[in-house]
Amino acid sequence: MTGGGMERTHARSGHLPVMYRQVLEGLRVHGNGAYLDGTFGRGGHARGVLSQLQAGGRLLVMDKDPEAIAVAESEFGGDPRVSIYRGSFADLAQWDATAAGLDGVLLDLGVSSPQLDVAERGFSFGKDGPLDMRMDPDNGLSAAQWLAKAGEKEIADVLWTYGEERQSRKIARTIVARRDGQPLTRTAQLADLIASVMPRGDQKIHPATRSFQAIRIFINRELADLELGLDAALARLKPGGRLAVISFHSLEDRIVKQFILRHSKAPPANRRMPVEIDFTPTLLAIDGAQKAEWEETADNPRARSAVLRVAEKLGEPGIGNRESGIGTAKAAAAFDAPAALLSRFPIPDSRFPAPPPGGAK
Ligand SMILES: C[S@@+](CC[C@H](N)C(=O)[O-])C[C@H]1O[C@@H](n2cnc3c(N)ncnc32)[C@H](O)[C@@H]1O
Repeated sequence: MTGGGMERTHARSGHLPVMYRQVLEGLRVHGNGAYLDGTFGRGGHARGVLSQLQAGGRLLVMDKDPEAIAVAESEFGGDPRVSIYRGSFADLAQWDATAAGLDGVLLDLGVSSPQLDVAERGFSFGKDGPLDMRMDPDNGLSAAQWLAKAGEKEIADVLWTYGEERQSRKIARTIVARRDGQPLTRTAQLADLIASVMPRGDQKIHPATRSFQAIRIFINRELADLELGLDAALARLKPGGRLAVISFHSLEDRIVKQFILRHSKAPPANRRMPVEIDFTPTLLAIDGAQKAEWEETADNPRARSAVLRVAEKLGEPGIGNRESGIGTAKAAAAFDAPAALLSRFPIPDSRFPAPPPGGAK
């Protein structure tokens, strides 16, 4: 598709895909390959992959968000090359459609423009709506439900850990002091409360930016899902298959960077492990951290914070999933014990690394 045609299609979909060209180059799409887009959104990247597939190619798409899945169904539901699954990419290895192995996996993390733009989804401090923030509104606690019950320390720890909000303790104290008299149910209420306790000064960003980001990451278990999703992607990629991940903040990018490093380089000898251990890399990093070109950042401010990392699965063709550990006790433990993985992102001294699934108690 020409640049103009592509932009018109993306404009219609309501979300401009970030680093489109670099993602498609990174995935190195083969016409008869099988590709998974774990974050369909409005399908900007998925559409690009599909345009390069022949009749024997497969495109598997996932999203937690029912509205994203409805778009996928209406646009691609009749295409025999496409399979659609509503759920988290953390569970991609449990989707039967991935069992035959994948030639590429894309994760374009975070929220889509339609999620931010529609006030009713409750993601935006700039648009008043119900204080929800769930990508999957049928699962887990909404932001309002969590803020109504959580302890002051837990709220402060979430704001600090996931948003690096320096006023975390003050904001948490104010939320707990005010919520009994006036439950927090609207995004504008929370944004105003945060603004009212922030020190005056020339803020470059809205005073609620960091807190909203932190609550969103926590409510949606974004970091735990990312860890699980990376493990599952590695397990399902065929040798020669590519992993492409776009992150939008440093917490995500650190996880992706360390994941690729852990699977591509032997850990250096250290005090606890003075001799080098026998290490067989399973990934090859391609091109390091890539940033959007300035033309793109001028058109799409969201692209400014994007970091793309690409890696290739190593190994002999034909040993695929066995070699990567699917079916081993270790892999089973990883998929069956999200709690263990969640504990890698502890909120300091908190018993609750993520909100309990399944709604308010
Ligand atoms: C940045 S948007 C993706 C945009 C997409 N690449 C496009 O071009 O339209 C992120 C999407 O991923 C979804 N998402 C975020 N975390 C997810 C997860 N763990 N599992 C499945 N979908 C997820 C969100 O609901 C959102 O629709």
